[in-house]
Amino acid sequence: MNKARVYVTRMIPEESINELRKHFEVDVNFEDRALTKAELMIKAKGCDALITLITDTVDGEVLDAIGAQCKVVANYAVGFNNLDVAAAIQRGVILTNTPGVLDDATATHAFTLLLATARRIVEADKYVRDGKWKGWAPMFFIGMDVDRRTLGIAGMGRIGSNIARKAKSFDMKIIYADARRNPQVEKELGATYVDKETLLKESDFLTLHVPLMPETFHYIGEKELQMMKKTAVLVNASRGPVVDEKALLKALQEKQIWGAGLDVFENEPEVLAGLTALDNVIVVPHIASATSETRINMGKIAVNNIIKVLSGQSPETCVNPEVLKK
Ligand SMILES: NC(=O)c1ccc[n+]([C@@H]2O[C@H](COP(=O)([O-])OP(=O)(O)OC[C@H]3O[C@@H](n4cnc5c(N)ncnc54)[C@H](O)[C@@H]3O)[C@@H](O)[C@H]2O)c1
Repeated sequence: MNKARVYVTRMIPEESINELRKHFEVDVNFEDRALTKAELMIKAKGCDALITLITDTVDGEVLDAIGAQCKVVANYAVGFNNLDVAAAIQRGVILTNTPGVLDDATATHAFTLLLATARRIVEADKYVRDGKWKGWAPMFFIGMDVDRRTLGIAGMGRIGSNIARKAKSFDMKIIYADARRNPQVEKELGATYVDKETLLKESDFLTLHVPLMPETFHYIGEKELQMMKKTAVLVNASRGPVVDEKALLKALQEKQIWGAGLDVFENEPEVLAGLTALDNVIVVPHIASATSETRINMGKIAVNNIIKVLSGQSPETCVNPEVLKK
């Protein structure tokens, strides 16, 4: 019997590809770049399963081009805003993601951005490298205190609650807004559930961990930035379009807020002209989950989901369970 065919849209850890090869015929896009939608439609045509990345758009048109034999699309990410869930349900295609294994890496990264922005680490590093340092000075690179300040978390899910635990070691007061309450973090960490307006007004540091969906598009825009403290720092390691980047640039230029640490951008890989000219912003290229162990573990989940689905079982981490009930 012919082996099932799996298409992987870009190189992921070798361990994952080797594991897939034990079970399936595997094609990988070895070019070190994201495929265009048109290329994906051609290259994945006829495959039974796919591993996709957040840079791949998988909508009804793509699923139709791949063919009705395709049973599962395993997204190599926890966020799945690149997948058209309704189109997949309509076609009976199972979609999966990689929750949990990237919480530590992503929360650590968001906290790193928070600390580095507060203490002006990148700006100070550049100063030394540029040969400008002439000696210790008392009023030099004055930053923001983190200890005992208020940390606002938008989206107290897996990653949000992980960062809240880390913040406790800085004795931070934790407030959060979410579509639903998280009684565990309230009990365990003394986190306080607040409405969005209170979150914006009271946070010294505001970190975003909501998924990107229509309700969270531009969750932070001009109106929200105006409600924030002039001394506040915004951290975004969720998805770029959760923040209105133009409004953020204006707020930073006009010192409406104090600084921002950004892992993600509205039109990646483009970064809005102007942001990189500012000293009070740290910009990094969407690397929140980029540690070797995390990436290997993300691969394990994606591969395991494909093995399960193609052997007639339910995957561990399905994002459209409606399809399993059919
Ligand atoms: N930058 C990166 O590399 C990176 C890495 C991992 C995850 N992420 C992003 O982080 C997001 C969160 O991941 P997670 O595993 O913590 O997800 P999660 O589902 O555990 O948590 C998301 C939280 O947001 C809340 N939420 C949903 N809609 C909301 C709304 N409209 N208003 C307020 N709260 C709302 C949910 O109730 C939930 O508590 C992912 O969707 C992904 O986009 C980014």
